[in-house]
Amino acid sequence: MNKMNTTIKRYGIIGFPLKHSFSPYIHNRAFGDLGIKAVYEKIETEPEKFEEKMAELKSGNLSGLNVTIPYKERILRFIDQIDPYAKAIGAVNTIKCHYDRWTGYNTDWAGFLKPIETDLDSIEKCLITGAGGAARAVAFALLKVKRVEFLWIANRTVQRAEKLVRTLKQHGTIEFRTSDLNEAAECGISFDLIVNTTSVGMSGQKEELIIDPQPISKPGTIIYDLIYNPLETPLLQAAAKLNLKTVNGLPMLIFQAEEAFKIWTGRRFNQNTINHLFDKLPELIR
Ligand SMILES: NC(=O)c1ccc[n+]([C@@H]2O[C@H](COP(=O)([O-])OP(=O)(O)OC[C@H]3O[C@@H](n4cnc5c(N)ncnc54)[C@H](OP(=O)(O)O)[C@@H]3O)[C@@H](O)[C@H]2O)c1
Repeated sequence: MNKMNTTIKRYGIIGFPLKHSFSPYIHNRAFGDLGIKAVYEKIETEPEKFEEKMAELKSGNLSGLNVTIPYKERILRFIDQIDPYAKAIGAVNTIKCHYDRWTGYNTDWAGFLKPIETDLDSIEKCLITGAGGAARAVAFALLKVKRVEFLWIANRTVQRAEKLVRTLKQHGTIEFRTSDLNEAAECGISFDLIVNTTSVGMSGQKEELIIDPQPISKPGTIIYDLIYNPLETPLLQAAAKLNLKTVNGLPMLIFQAEEAFKIWTGRRFNQNTINHLFDKLPELIR
Protein backbone atom coordinates (compact mmCIF):
# COMPACT_ATOMS: atom_id res chain seq x y z
CA MET A 1 0.00 0.00 0.00
CA ASN A 2 1.47 3.41 -0.86
CA LYS A 3 1.72 6.26 1.63
CA MET A 4 -1.24 8.13 0.09
CA ASN A 5 -3.58 5.17 0.70
CA THR A 6 -2.75 4.97 4.39
CA THR A 7 -4.34 8.40 4.95
CA ILE A 8 -7.64 7.41 3.35
CA LYS A 9 -10.14 6.13 5.88
CA ARG A 10 -12.29 3.16 4.96
CA TYR A 11 -15.99 2.81 5.71
CA GLY A 12 -18.58 0.38 4.46
CA ILE A 13 -21.96 -1.24 4.73
CA ILE A 14 -22.46 -4.92 5.42
CA GLY A 15 -25.72 -6.63 4.48
CA PHE A 16 -27.32 -8.96 2.00
CA PRO A 17 -28.41 -8.17 -0.63
CA LEU A 18 -26.93 -4.71 -1.10
CA LYS A 19 -27.62 -4.10 -4.77
CA HIS A 20 -30.12 -1.35 -3.99
CA SER A 21 -28.27 0.31 -1.09
CA PHE A 22 -27.90 4.09 -1.43
CA SER A 23 -25.52 4.39 1.54
CA PRO A 24 -22.31 4.42 -0.57
CA TYR A 25 -23.76 7.19 -2.73
CA ILE A 26 -24.80 9.24 0.32
CA HIS A 27 -21.57 8.91 2.32
CA ASN A 28 -19.15 9.25 -0.59
CA ARG A 29 -20.96 12.43 -1.62
CA ALA A 30 -20.76 13.79 1.95
CA PHE A 31 -17.05 12.92 2.27
CA GLY A 32 -16.36 14.59 -1.09
CA ASP A 33 -18.33 17.76 -0.26
CA LEU A 34 -16.45 18.18 3.03
CA GLY A 35 -13.06 17.31 1.55
CA ILE A 36 -12.64 14.32 3.86
CA LYS A 37 -10.29 11.66 2.53
CA ALA A 38 -12.39 8.54 2.89
CA VAL A 39 -14.07 5.83 0.87
CA TYR A 40 -17.29 3.99 1.62
CA GLU A 41 -17.98 0.66 -0.03
CA LYS A 42 -20.52 -2.13 -0.16
CA ILE A 43 -19.49 -5.27 1.72
CA GLU A 44 -22.16 -7.61 0.44
CA THR A 45 -21.91 -10.80 2.47
CA GLU A 46 -23.99 -13.94 2.16
CA PRO A 47 -25.43 -15.24 5.46
CA GLU A 48 -23.25 -18.37 5.50
CA LYS A 49 -20.09 -16.26 5.07
CA PHE A 50 -20.99 -13.67 7.71
CA GLU A 51 -18.83 -14.96 10.59
CA GLU A 52 -15.79 -15.37 8.33
CA LYS A 53 -16.26 -11.87 6.91
CA MET A 54 -16.58 -10.39 10.38
CA ALA A 55 -13.31 -11.98 11.48
CA GLU A 56 -11.63 -10.49 8.41
CA LEU A 57 -13.13 -7.01 8.99
CA LYS A 58 -12.20 -6.99 12.68
CA SER A 59 -8.56 -7.58 11.86
CA GLY A 60 -8.63 -5.04 9.03
CA ASN A 61 -8.39 -1.25 8.94
CA LEU A 62 -12.02 -0.10 8.85
CA SER A 63 -12.93 3.20 10.53
CA GLY A 64 -16.67 2.63 10.51
CA LEU A 65 -19.36 0.27 9.35
CA ASN A 66 -23.08 0.43 8.65
CA VAL A 67 -25.10 -2.70 9.18
CA THR A 68 -28.30 -3.54 7.37
CA ILE A 69 -30.71 -6.39 6.72
CA PRO A 70 -30.31 -9.17 7.81
CA TYR A 71 -27.44 -8.46 10.25
CA LYS A 72 -28.56 -5.68 12.60
CA GLU A 73 -29.04 -8.20 15.42
CA ARG A 74 -26.52 -10.84 14.40
CA ILE A 75 -23.74 -8.24 14.56
CA LEU A 76 -24.26 -7.70 18.30
CA ARG A 77 -21.82 -10.39 19.38
CA PHE A 78 -19.00 -8.68 17.49
CA ILE A 79 -19.54 -5.39 19.32
CA ASP A 80 -17.27 -4.57 22.28
CA GLN A 81 -19.27 -1.64 23.59
CA ILE A 82 -22.86 -0.63 22.88
CA ASP A 83 -24.64 2.69 23.09
CA PRO A 84 -27.67 2.56 25.48
CA TYR A 85 -30.24 3.28 22.73
CA ALA A 86 -28.87 0.56 20.48
CA LYS A 87 -28.94 -1.77 23.47
CA ALA A 88 -32.57 -0.94 24.25
CA ILE A 89 -33.58 -1.32 20.60
CA GLY A 90 -31.59 -4.54 20.37
CA ALA A 91 -30.13 -3.67 16.98
CA VAL A 92 -26.99 -1.94 15.70
CA ASN A 93 -26.85 -0.17 12.34
CA THR A 94 -23.66 1.85 12.86
CA ILE A 95 -20.27 0.87 14.24
CA LYS A 96 -17.34 3.09 15.08
CA CYS A 97 -14.18 1.01 14.79
CA HIS A 98 -11.05 1.76 16.77
CA TYR A 99 -8.75 -0.99 15.52
CA ASP A 100 -10.48 -4.19 16.67
CA ARG A 101 -12.48 -2.40 19.37
CA TRP A 102 -15.94 -1.70 17.98
CA THR A 103 -18.71 0.48 19.46
CA GLY A 104 -22.25 -0.11 18.22
CA TYR A 105 -24.96 2.53 17.75
CA ASN A 106 -28.44 2.73 16.30
CA THR A 107 -29.17 5.84 14.23
CA ASP A 108 -32.55 4.76 12.80
CA TRP A 109 -34.50 6.20 15.75
CA ALA A 110 -32.92 9.67 15.42
CA GLY A 111 -33.26 9.58 11.62
CA PHE A 112 -36.94 8.74 12.04
CA LEU A 113 -37.63 11.69 14.39
CA LYS A 114 -35.76 14.37 12.46
CA PRO A 115 -38.36 14.94 9.66
CA ILE A 116 -41.15 15.42 12.23
CA GLU A 117 -39.19 17.29 14.91
CA THR A 118 -41.28 20.45 14.56
CA ASP A 119 -44.51 18.43 14.96
CA LEU A 120 -43.57 16.55 18.11
CA ASP A 121 -45.43 18.89 20.48
CA SER A 122 -48.74 17.89 18.91
CA ILE A 123 -48.23 14.13 18.90
CA GLU A 124 -49.96 12.24 21.72
CA LYS A 125 -51.66 9.19 20.18
CA CYS A 126 -49.65 7.04 17.78
CA LEU A 127 -50.23 3.94 15.71
CA ILE A 128 -47.41 1.83 14.32
CA THR A 129 -48.15 -0.83 11.72
CA GLY A 130 -45.51 -3.55 11.83
CA ALA A 131 -43.39 -4.99 14.63
CA GLY A 132 -40.08 -5.82 12.92
CA GLY A 133 -36.68 -4.16 13.26
CA ALA A 134 -37.77 -0.77 11.95
CA ALA A 135 -40.81 -0.76 14.26
CA ARG A 136 -38.53 -1.28 17.26
CA ALA A 137 -36.47 1.81 16.38
CA VAL A 138 -39.62 3.87 15.72
CA ALA A 139 -41.29 2.74 18.95
CA PHE A 140 -38.21 3.60 21.03
CA ALA A 141 -38.00 6.98 19.29
CA LEU A 142 -41.64 7.68 20.19
CA LEU A 143 -40.99 6.71 23.83
CA LYS A 144 -38.55 9.64 23.91
CA VAL A 145 -41.18 12.12 22.74
CA LYS A 146 -42.51 14.01 25.76
CA ARG A 147 -46.15 14.39 24.71
CA VAL A 148 -46.66 10.84 23.46
CA GLU A 149 -49.05 9.09 25.86
CA PHE A 150 -50.53 6.22 23.84
CA LEU A 151 -48.92 3.80 21.39
CA TRP A 152 -50.86 1.14 19.48
CA ILE A 153 -48.79 -1.46 17.62
CA ALA A 154 -50.69 -3.41 14.98
CA ASN A 155 -49.00 -6.29 13.24
CA ARG A 156 -50.01 -9.20 11.02
CA THR A 157 -48.42 -11.47 13.62
CA VAL A 158 -49.88 -10.12 16.87
CA GLN A 159 -47.45 -12.09 19.08
CA ARG A 160 -44.56 -10.12 17.60
CA ALA A 161 -46.29 -6.83 18.53
CA GLU A 162 -46.90 -8.17 22.04
CA LYS A 163 -43.24 -9.13 22.40
CA LEU A 164 -42.18 -5.65 21.33
CA VAL A 165 -44.53 -4.03 23.84
CA ARG A 166 -43.15 -6.22 26.64
CA THR A 167 -39.70 -4.77 25.91
CA LEU A 168 -41.03 -1.21 25.56
CA LYS A 169 -42.71 -1.42 28.97
CA GLN A 170 -39.28 -1.80 30.57
CA HIS A 171 -38.34 1.61 29.16
CA GLY A 172 -41.49 3.76 29.29
CA THR A 173 -44.73 4.12 31.19
CA ILE A 174 -47.09 5.29 28.45
CA GLU A 175 -50.25 3.32 27.55
CA PHE A 176 -49.71 0.52 25.01
CA ARG A 177 -52.08 -1.58 22.96
CA THR A 178 -51.49 -4.35 20.43
CA SER A 179 -53.69 -5.98 17.80
CA ASP A 180 -53.78 -7.26 14.26
CA LEU A 181 -54.17 -4.78 11.41
CA ASN A 182 -57.96 -5.22 11.05
CA GLU A 183 -58.70 -4.39 14.66
CA ALA A 184 -56.59 -1.23 14.49
CA ALA A 185 -58.33 -0.18 11.26
CA GLU A 186 -61.69 -0.37 13.02
CA CYS A 187 -60.70 1.07 16.41
CA GLY A 188 -62.34 4.48 15.84
CA ILE A 189 -59.46 6.38 17.49
CA SER A 190 -58.18 9.51 15.73
CA PHE A 191 -54.41 9.17 15.90
CA ASP A 192 -52.01 12.13 15.73
CA LEU A 193 -49.37 10.02 14.00
CA ILE A 194 -49.67 6.80 11.98
CA VAL A 195 -46.39 5.15 10.96
CA ASN A 196 -46.10 2.27 8.55
CA THR A 197 -42.99 0.21 9.28
CA THR A 198 -44.04 -2.85 7.27
CA SER A 199 -42.79 -3.55 3.77
CA VAL A 200 -46.37 -3.47 2.42
CA GLY A 201 -46.49 -0.90 -0.39
CA MET A 202 -42.90 -1.42 -1.49
CA SER A 203 -42.11 -1.37 -5.17
CA GLY A 204 -42.13 -4.81 -6.73
CA GLN A 205 -44.99 -6.00 -4.52
CA LYS A 206 -48.64 -5.89 -5.39
CA GLU A 207 -50.17 -2.43 -4.76
CA GLU A 208 -51.57 -2.81 -1.28
CA LEU A 209 -52.81 -0.36 1.33
CA ILE A 210 -51.51 -1.43 4.74
CA ILE A 211 -54.34 0.39 6.54
CA ASP A 212 -57.03 2.86 5.45
CA PRO A 213 -56.16 6.12 7.23
CA GLN A 214 -59.62 7.68 6.79
CA PRO A 215 -61.47 6.27 9.85
CA ILE A 216 -58.47 6.61 12.19
CA SER A 217 -57.28 10.11 11.35
CA LYS A 218 -58.39 13.71 11.80
CA PRO A 219 -57.25 17.00 10.25
CA GLY A 220 -53.62 17.36 11.29
CA THR A 221 -52.82 13.65 11.50
CA ILE A 222 -49.36 12.86 10.14
CA ILE A 223 -49.06 9.75 7.97
CA TYR A 224 -45.47 8.54 7.84
CA ASP A 225 -44.36 5.62 5.67
CA LEU A 226 -40.79 4.38 6.15
CA ILE A 227 -40.72 3.05 2.59
CA TYR A 228 -38.79 5.22 0.11
CA ASN A 229 -39.28 3.08 -2.99
CA PRO A 230 -41.75 4.16 -4.24
CA LEU A 231 -41.73 7.64 -2.71
CA GLU A 232 -45.53 7.67 -2.74
CA THR A 233 -46.92 4.41 -1.43
CA PRO A 234 -50.64 3.50 -1.53
CA LEU A 235 -50.83 4.63 2.13
CA LEU A 236 -49.36 8.05 1.34
CA GLN A 237 -51.63 8.39 -1.71
CA ALA A 238 -54.67 7.69 0.45
CA ALA A 239 -53.46 10.23 3.03
CA ALA A 240 -52.84 12.90 0.38
CA LYS A 241 -56.43 12.48 -0.82
CA LEU A 242 -57.54 13.30 2.74
CA ASN A 243 -55.24 16.37 2.78
CA LEU A 244 -53.19 14.91 5.61
CA LYS A 245 -49.51 15.68 6.12
CA THR A 246 -47.40 12.89 4.62
CA VAL A 247 -43.78 11.89 5.18
CA ASN A 248 -42.04 9.20 3.14
CA GLY A 249 -38.91 7.21 4.02
CA LEU A 250 -36.43 9.36 2.08
CA PRO A 251 -35.68 11.93 4.84
CA MET A 252 -35.18 9.10 7.35
CA LEU A 253 -32.78 7.40 4.95
CA ILE A 254 -30.75 10.61 4.64
CA PHE A 255 -30.85 11.61 8.32
CA GLN A 256 -29.99 8.19 9.74
CA ALA A 257 -26.95 8.33 7.45
CA GLU A 258 -26.09 11.82 8.70
CA GLU A 259 -26.26 10.58 12.31
CA ALA A 260 -23.81 7.77 11.44
CA PHE A 261 -21.55 10.27 9.68
CA LYS A 262 -21.57 12.45 12.82
CA ILE A 263 -20.56 9.47 14.97
CA TRP A 264 -17.65 8.71 12.65
CA THR A 265 -16.38 12.19 11.80
CA GLY A 266 -17.89 14.55 14.37
CA ARG A 267 -19.33 16.56 11.47
CA ARG A 268 -22.79 17.06 9.99
CA PHE A 269 -23.55 16.87 6.26
CA ASN A 270 -23.24 20.32 4.76
CA GLN A 271 -26.39 21.92 3.35
CA ASN A 272 -25.25 21.39 -0.26
CA THR A 273 -24.95 17.66 0.40
CA ILE A 274 -28.45 17.52 1.89
CA ASN A 275 -29.94 19.54 -0.99
CA HIS A 276 -28.16 17.34 -3.51
CA LEU A 277 -29.39 14.12 -1.84
CA PHE A 278 -33.00 15.29 -1.75
CA ASP A 279 -32.74 16.19 -5.46
CA LYS A 280 -30.78 13.24 -6.74
CA LEU A 281 -31.93 10.23 -4.70
CA PRO A 282 -35.52 10.31 -6.02
CA GLU A 283 -34.04 10.02 -9.54
CA LEU A 284 -31.82 7.09 -8.52
CA ILE A 285 -34.65 5.37 -6.67
CA ARG A 286 -36.92 5.38 -9.72
N1 LIG B 1 -36.45 4.92 5.44
C1 LIG B 1 -35.54 4.27 6.13
O1 LIG B 1 -34.45 4.78 6.42
C2 LIG B 1 -35.83 2.87 6.60
C3 LIG B 1 -35.07 2.30 7.65
C4 LIG B 1 -35.38 1.00 8.07
C5 LIG B 1 -36.41 0.28 7.44
N2 LIG B 1 -37.10 0.88 6.42
C6 LIG B 1 -38.19 0.13 5.74
O2 LIG B 1 -39.05 -0.43 6.73
C7 LIG B 1 -39.60 -1.65 6.22
C8 LIG B 1 -39.49 -2.77 7.27
O3 LIG B 1 -38.13 -3.04 7.57
P1 LIG B 1 -37.76 -4.00 8.81
O4 LIG B 1 -36.29 -3.98 8.91
O5 LIG B 1 -38.57 -3.66 10.01
O6 LIG B 1 -38.25 -5.43 8.26
P2 LIG B 1 -38.68 -6.70 9.12
O7 LIG B 1 -37.96 -6.74 10.43
O8 LIG B 1 -38.57 -7.85 8.20
O9 LIG B 1 -40.25 -6.46 9.44
C9 LIG B 1 -41.19 -6.47 8.41
C10 LIG B 1 -42.58 -6.08 8.96
O10 LIG B 1 -43.48 -6.04 7.85
C11 LIG B 1 -44.59 -6.91 8.11
N3 LIG B 1 -45.08 -7.47 6.85
C12 LIG B 1 -44.33 -7.98 5.84
N4 LIG B 1 -45.13 -8.40 4.83
C13 LIG B 1 -46.41 -8.14 5.23
C14 LIG B 1 -47.69 -8.35 4.64
N5 LIG B 1 -47.82 -8.89 3.41
N6 LIG B 1 -48.78 -7.95 5.32
C15 LIG B 1 -48.69 -7.38 6.55
N7 LIG B 1 -47.50 -7.17 7.16
C16 LIG B 1 -46.38 -7.55 6.52
C17 LIG B 1 -44.05 -7.96 9.05
O11 LIG B 1 -45.12 -8.58 9.73
P3 LIG B 1 -44.94 -10.05 10.44
O12 LIG B 1 -44.27 -9.78 11.76
O13 LIG B 1 -46.32 -10.55 10.56
O14 LIG B 1 -44.10 -10.86 9.51
C18 LIG B 1 -43.16 -7.10 9.96
O15 LIG B 1 -43.95 -6.40 10.92
C19 LIG B 1 -38.90 -1.94 4.90
O16 LIG B 1 -39.76 -1.53 3.87
C20 LIG B 1 -37.67 -1.05 4.96
O17 LIG B 1 -37.25 -0.65 3.67
C21 LIG B 1 -36.83 2.14 6.00
